[in-house]
Amino acid sequence: MDMIQVNQEKCIRCSLCVNVCPTKFITMGDQGPEATGENCIACGHCVAVCPWAALDNMKAPLAQQLSLEKVPILDADTAARFLRARRSIRCYKQEVVPREKILQLLDIARLAPTGGNTQGVSYQVIDKADTLRKITSLVIDWMEEQVQTGSPWGPYYAQPIDNYRKTGEDVILRDAPCLVVAISARNFLPRGRDNSHFSLAYAELYAPAIELGSCWAGFFEMCASSGYQPLISLLGLKEEMAVTGALMVGYPQFTYRRLVDRNPLKVTWQ
Ligand SMILES: Cc1cc2nc3c(=O)[nH]c(=O)nc-3n(C[C@H](O)[C@H](O)[C@H](O)COP(=O)(O)O)c2cc1C
Repeated sequence: MDMIQVNQEKCIRCSLCVNVCPTKFITMGDQGPEATGENCIACGHCVAVCPWAALDNMKAPLAQQLSLEKVPILDADTAARFLRARRSIRCYKQEVVPREKILQLLDIARLAPTGGNTQGVSYQVIDKADTLRKITSLVIDWMEEQVQTGSPWGPYYAQPIDNYRKTGEDVILRDAPCLVVAISARNFLPRGRDNSHFSLAYAELYAPAIELGSCWAGFFEMCASSGYQPLISLLGLKEEMAVTGALMVGYPQFTYRRLVDRNPLKVTWQ
């Protein structure tokens, strides 16, 4: 069967599908839109843009696309406030997050844009308190090794190590009830890491809509991506896979009352 099917009764040859195809995979032939070559990236633009639902694509089936009468665009002020209100959550309620809720979060995360629609990210979710505590302890051990071996990151690690050793406070995973670990194939780096981070950024932005909060687990990612064996073994990571991002997730304990500013905007024009 052809990759592209066109319903000739519905198609009016408007060329919208041709215009939006990023790889010029679809061209306008005598009989209407047709596939040329092999370079469909399965982005689904051709199917999604057709007002008449006249086109189907095996790689992005019409039946799996959700109808959208009106694109839900937030007004500028709401959108700006929504984006500015996102914060790293480091204080969580000690409440279990149902797995269905994490699935709901990741089902949006997986829709983030990726270069060439390559995607290639899977997720390992850790929600067992014992395992989370063990991870924190291993990351601290690794940080200590980094300090001792003179790693350039050593100075950044000294304070969290000291804090953890003196108080036992979870400075790595912040006592979050859940850790989402993004995983990509080692031979897909560095693109896999980019894609993971886009996906986790989506998760971070979507989280408050389902009462969740999140925080990037950068210390954890540094340790895991360095290949620290005790952590890799704990995660049960296959040799050919790599940790390419991580996000703590849980119910936030506190609400922020103000929007903060950042460094001044720097722009150049040509
Ligand atoms: C890639 C990345 C890694 C991060 N790693 C950590 C981390 O390990 N622990 C932590 O508490 N915050 C971590 N953060 C959160 C940043 O500290 C935070 O985004 C920054 O201070 C700005 O605060 P905000 O996110 O609340 O706006 C990380 C953020 C990013 C983007």
